[in-house]
Amino acid sequence: SKNHHYDFFIKESNYTRLCHEKTILTVNGQFPGPTIYARKGDVVVVNVYNQGDKNITIHWHGVDQPRNPWSDGPVYITQCPIQPGANLTYTIILSEEEGTLWWHAHSDYDRTTVHGAIVIHPKLGNAFPFKKPHKEIPVILSEWWNADVNLLLEEARKTGGDVSISDANTINGQPGDLFPCSNNGTFKAAVESGKTYLLRIINAGLANDLFFGVAGHRLTVVGTDARYTKPFTVDQILISPGQTVDALLEADRAVNGSSNGRYYMAARTLASNTNIEFDNTTATAILEYADAPPAARAGRPDFPSLPAIDDLNASTAYTAQLRSLASEAHPVDVPTDVDEHMLITIAVNVVPCTTGNGTCEGPLGARLAASLNNVSFHLPSVDILDAYYGSVRGVYETDFPDMPPFVFNFTDDNVPMERWFTKRGTKVKVVEYGAVVEVVFQDTAILGAENHPMHLHGFNFYVLGRGLGNFNHTTDPATYNLIDPPLQNTVTVPKSGWATIRFRAANPGVWFMHCHFERHSEWGMDTVFIVKDGKTQAKMMRRPPGMPRC
Ligand code: C2O
Ligand code: CU
Repeated sequence: SKNHHYDFFIKESNYTRLCHEKTILTVNGQFPGPTIYARKGDVVVVNVYNQGDKNITIHWHGVDQPRNPWSDGPVYITQCPIQPGANLTYTIILSEEEGTLWWHAHSDYDRTTVHGAIVIHPKLGNAFPFKKPHKEIPVILSEWWNADVNLLLEEARKTGGDVSISDANTINGQPGDLFPCSNNGTFKAAVESGKTYLLRIINAGLANDLFFGVAGHRLTVVGTDARYTKPFTVDQILISPGQTVDALLEADRAVNGSSNGRYYMAARTLASNTNIEFDNTTATAILEYADAPPAARAGRPDFPSLPAIDDLNASTAYTAQLRSLASEAHPVDVPTDVDEHMLITIAVNVVPCTTGNGTCEGPLGARLAASLNNVSFHLPSVDILDAYYGSVRGVYETDFPDMPPFVFNFTDDNVPMERWFTKRGTKVKVVEYGAVVEVVFQDTAILGAENHPMHLHGFNFYVLGRGLGNFNHTTDPATYNLIDPPLQNTVTVPKSGWATIRFRAANPGVWFMHCHFERHSEWGMDTVFIVKDGKTQAKMMRRPPGMPRC
């Protein structure tokens, strides 16, 4: 294995999208940020210099970071923020990951513009478990706000209301030519007929599950969340915030004078919460046959037919096809003998208003909140990892509840109002080193129902099953896939439904778990796993020098 070194300079840069020029936070002036390249098992060292004017941290999404929570990045979970003018060296230890991951800021709403790809190739001498692609094409899906999103966040923190939605979805930082002032920048991928391309697709957005497809072409999914999958071919993929998809595209369209040499790639929102008004327009990029005659390249590109904005069936049908490759070189190892059975309910709630006049912008004049097992996670003002390491009391409590304190009327859109309220707390779950943990996530649809992309730091987990309605303890476990379940870091818990994950807690440290919809996480749809040290070789690393102080 090899060491790689990157310098990340966090700084303000001017960007123009949708006819608006504004200053955004970037890494090295780039949006999306620079791509990190490595091979399986390598170590990547990133020096982050904060030349911006606000506190920030960076997270390496989907990297297990064995025994090294110090470099994981979530603010006030594993570190204090890097203050303006300060710097921090992150050590990213790659182990089993192979494929596409990404990095992003993990403080406030900074990840809106501070994000980029991590591309992990097979070890030297090893091949992809599929036909070698001619080239790789990055497809980073995200969002653009005309406003300063951290100002919107500040306002929402005052009023207890929602952060307004973005002004466009984007592909590689561009809304595409269906939007005003967006012609010139539209991302173009040049292909040659007869060749195969590997699309590395990342949903770096804050708020939307997205359908993504390419007109006139099908996509063969070969990986997700930096693990290989059994190949399957689809017209479009569905990708939730936090997830990645590796897909092969055959540039197999005949190229002659009469055919079209250009095809739209498009990303459209799946709005599982129909109470939220989403912008119905679609981000586009263009796949362009470089060997097509000029006439064919001049025409208007064909448009892919994507599912409707509320087509939950299309999303479920896609997700149900995900399976681990389960080959000799990439085996599946689903842990058996579960030590910790957890049921975690997911809800959007309210908490009492705290403004001076006692009226907030959330429902019932209260503050919007969100919870796991009816606890709305409260971010402490010093980091939990340091408190745990130094045995500092009073930063967090270890009584994350096993079961909700009352029985939710699952999947009912008309829950009695008193159940809308929840309590805030910094409650963590402590597990023994090596324990096998199984979590059933149950959506409750307390306040509006939608999918929730639940993300766990420090681990990849097997997704054993998903379903609609209430999880049934007697019948649903019999439907689990224990043969070739996908190994992921972010699972989409279906609206008014459940999903079950399982992992072995063989990574000592402090690991955040949260919904990857940014406003849900901000409202408290989070918790923390503290995994205790094991024997000699299974202890957390010592605190490295240079960690920021709060
Ligand atoms: Cu993509 Cu807590 O992270
Ligand atoms: Cu959520």
